[in-house]
Formats: sequence, C-alpha cells, structure tokens
Amino acid sequence: MLYVWLQAFHLISIVTWFAALFYLPRLYVYHAMAEDEISLERFKVMERKLYRGIMNPSAIVAVGLGLTLLALNPAWLTQGWMHVKLALVALLIAYHLYCGRILRTFAEDRNERSHKWYRVFNELPVLVLVPVVILAVVKPF
Ligand code: HEM
Repeated sequence: MLYVWLQAFHLISIVTWFAALFYLPRLYVYHAMAEDEISLERFKVMERKLYRGIMNPSAIVAVGLGLTLLALNPAWLTQGWMHVKLALVALLIAYHLYCGRILRTFAEDRNERSHKWYRVFNELPVLVLVPVVILAVVKPF
C-alpha cells in the first residue's frame, strides 16, 4: 500500500520537474532575444523563481522517492531496464545542474549564446523522458 502511494508521488514530482525542465530553457530562448532593461530584469526573476521554487524541489522529491522505492524493492536493481534508467536519470541531473549554470550567466548579464542555441537545448529533456517512461512502464529487459 505504502509502495503505490510513493509511486504516485514519484510520478507527480516527475510531472512538475519536467514542467520546469521544459519551461526554464524556453525562458532562456526569450531572454536571449530580449533587449530592453525591463524585460531583462523580469526574465531574471522568473528564471530564479522557477529554478529555486519548482525545479530544485521537484528534482529532490522525484529522486528521493525513486531511491525510496528502490530501497523498498531492491530486486529492481537486478534488472537491465533499471540500469539504463538510472544512467539516463544521471544525464537528466547533469542537464538540470547545467540549467543552473546558465541561470547564473543570465543573472550576471554574461550570456553570449543565441536564442537558436537555447531552442535546441530546450529539446534535450525529451530524449530522456520518452525512453525512461517506456523503460519504467514496459520493463522490456
Ligand atoms: C534516481 C532517480 C530515480 C529512481 C531511483 C527511480 C526508481 C523508480 C522505481 C524503483 C520505480 C518503481 C517501479 C515499479 O514498481 O514498477 C519507479 C517508477 C517509475 N519511475 Fe522512477 N526513478 C527515478 C527517476 C525517475 C525519472 C526521472 C522518471 C521520468 C523521467 C521516472 C519515471 C518513472 C515512471 C514512469 C515510473 C512508474 C512505473 C510504473 O508504475 O509501472 N523515474 N522509479
């Protein structure tokens, strides 16, 4: 019973984590195109609040609950899909932390990348989302 409740909240935190993972780089796209002072300052506030208020807490809850599920059922660690899933989650955490580095470059007015670069960067989380959900639900190997 506890297990399925933890699973439900694991999924809820993944939804909010991905909402932020898709929206923050989208803000970077518009921030990289902005030129007037009011817009630049407004993007800084939106990005900081999204990163600290939604993205970090969601990631901590999603990973924390995932590890708790693993602790309750360590047998998952003997399955191949879980190894691949954990490797992809490690890439997602690296992407998350890189978003934090970009946040600082914008906060200090040091961004030199184009909006096109951020548009491509914005698509990367989907390359983790699709395989990880398939692995976790289908458990193919
Ligand atoms: C270190 C991070 C994570 C760990 C240790 C972890 C571990 C787990 C475990 C043990 C389960 C239960 C599997 C079951 O009982 O069927 C689970 C379920 C699930 N996880 Fe994660 N997870 C992590 C991160 C993620 C991420 C980032 C995603 C999405 C991108 C994700 C997607 C899912 C899904 C969709 C399920 C539901 C599977 C089902 O109900 O059949 N997990 N996770």
